[in-house]
Amino acid sequence: MSTTPHLDKPLFSAEEIRTRVHVLADAIARDYGADEILAVSILKGSFVFTADLIRALAAHQVHPLVDFMTLSSYGSSSMSSGKVLLHQELSLPVKGHRVLLIDDILDTGLTLQTACQLLIQKGAREVRTCVLLDKPSRRVVPITADYTGFQVENVFVVGYGLDYNNRYRHLPGLATLKFEVAPGAT
Ligand code: PRP
Repeated sequence: MSTTPHLDKPLFSAEEIRTRVHVLADAIARDYGADEILAVSILKGSFVFTADLIRALAAHQVHPLVDFMTLSSYGSSSMSSGKVLLHQELSLPVKGHRVLLIDDILDTGLTLQTACQLLIQKGAREVRTCVLLDKPSRRVVPITADYTGFQVENVFVVGYGLDYNNRYRHLPGLATLKFEVAPGAT
């Protein structure tokens, strides 16, 4: 059956996100104190969130090392494949570091779980997790984030780095996407 996605409703505005990101940065700064953080951002979805979070942390005199790893589970579909693929490795050493793992959304939990396991295997001293969005109703593995921006219902969310088919990542706020059956589709 053919479906056409289109933007549905605004979920969180750029201003609401900015306020929440600063609350998260405040909590992280208090928890880590003077300890060095290795921030690991899971690409591609978390690039916007990470950019804002590290600058919010800087406002609290926290200046993490930053690295990236590219993982994907969705491919070009709106359904998780259930398999997490590593497309690009970290470039910095992890051994002995306190890692703050950053992702845009915690859905089934498979991506965050896989990333945590990889970081522990590489010798991270500690791995804490920070996600902008959490969809607890979708979880298939028992994982909760240490820092969460917003909890959301089981709706498809785009914007602020989140995509559908690599589109909509540029939107400054978060919105829901609606899938409608195209006229004439069977
Ligand atoms: C999305 C999102 C998270 C992951 C969460 O990534 O960015 O990393 O799915 O889903 P999960 O909890 O069910 O594993 P996606 O695979 O769409 O790749 P992308 O970040 O490149 O958009």
